[in-house]
Amino acid sequence: MTAVSLDSFRGELERLRADAEAALAEAVDAAALEAHRVEFLGARSGRLKAIQKSLGGLAVGDKPAGGRHFNEAKAAITAAFEAAQARIEAGGLGPAAEAIDVTLPGEPIRLGHVHPLTHTIRRVQEIMGRLGFESVDGPEVEDQWHNFEALAIPAEHPARDPLDNFYLSVARTADPLLLRSQTSTVQIRVMENREPPLRIVSLGRVYRPDTADATHYPMFHQVEGLLVEPGITMAHLKSVLRLFASSFLGGDVHVRFRPSFFPFTEPSVEVDMEWGGRWVEMGGAGMVDPAVLEAVGYDPDVVTGFAFGLGVERIAARRYGVDDIRDFYRNDVRFLRQF
Ligand code: PHE
Repeated sequence: MTAVSLDSFRGELERLRADAEAALAEAVDAAALEAHRVEFLGARSGRLKAIQKSLGGLAVGDKPAGGRHFNEAKAAITAAFEAAQARIEAGGLGPAAEAIDVTLPGEPIRLGHVHPLTHTIRRVQEIMGRLGFESVDGPEVEDQWHNFEALAIPAEHPARDPLDNFYLSVARTADPLLLRSQTSTVQIRVMENREPPLRIVSLGRVYRPDTADATHYPMFHQVEGLLVEPGITMAHLKSVLRLFASSFLGGDVHVRFRPSFFPFTEPSVEVDMEWGGRWVEMGGAGMVDPAVLEAVGYDPDVVTGFAFGLGVERIAARRYGVDDIRDFYRNDVRFLRQF
């Protein structure tokens, strides 16, 4: 019998134990299990048996410790074998195989997307951009000049009634601030700072103390369009609106004007669009009032302009067939996922 040191004997046992445990944990069926049983625990030529034979080569004083190590390793390998056997009998595939079962249907990765109103805003900007309208922003907290006065809504005008608007209590000064009630404020802000020719659109939130129902909400979005150049007429207004509506809604959309009144346009119209055989009111429009042009320092004898304001929720509802605009704000993913 060749002499064996206790250290190398232990090392052998540990290697064997690690090999056996790894192999048994990956065994997927009874045939693999049997092959591993023969390799590790086989009574005649198993690897454990081979090590047991070398036990005789240990120094006499090392034999008790060697025997203990041997019994521990044998118990561990037997336990690993029994665990693998139980698992295979129960129909399991083993941890590695269970982690990736290529026969199972995949779990779809849910990708989010922009909100339908954001999508609508971007599409409006893109379509109007192709017509030469630059997209600009304006503040949602406004002063009375931009929300009213510059738009020819003087102090005694009914639209000025503070009960009808959201004033900010933090700014209860001689010049109170309020949440803008229309995006027409941006017309003024742009004209104050630039010279004609001008072609701009501005999309954003506006606030009115409306009771929420299927077609109203205290906060909603508007598209404001403004074009100021020499020689602009209502015909240009109608053409631009019709081109926009046809691009946005698809097909040949008809646009109808009904006489109306806005303090800052003259003449003023309500804009209806025909879509699916139905006329729907989409907003207001008109020729920029010469008094407004003068107030921002333009010469109404040289330039004329048109302006329009459309409801983003309305055109989105039309486009997507939504019949209650409150659905846009409920944040119910079952609704939002449809778009
Ligand atoms: N600002 C108006 C509204 O909110 C709409 C409008 C815009 C009308 C531009 C004429 C020109 O009702």
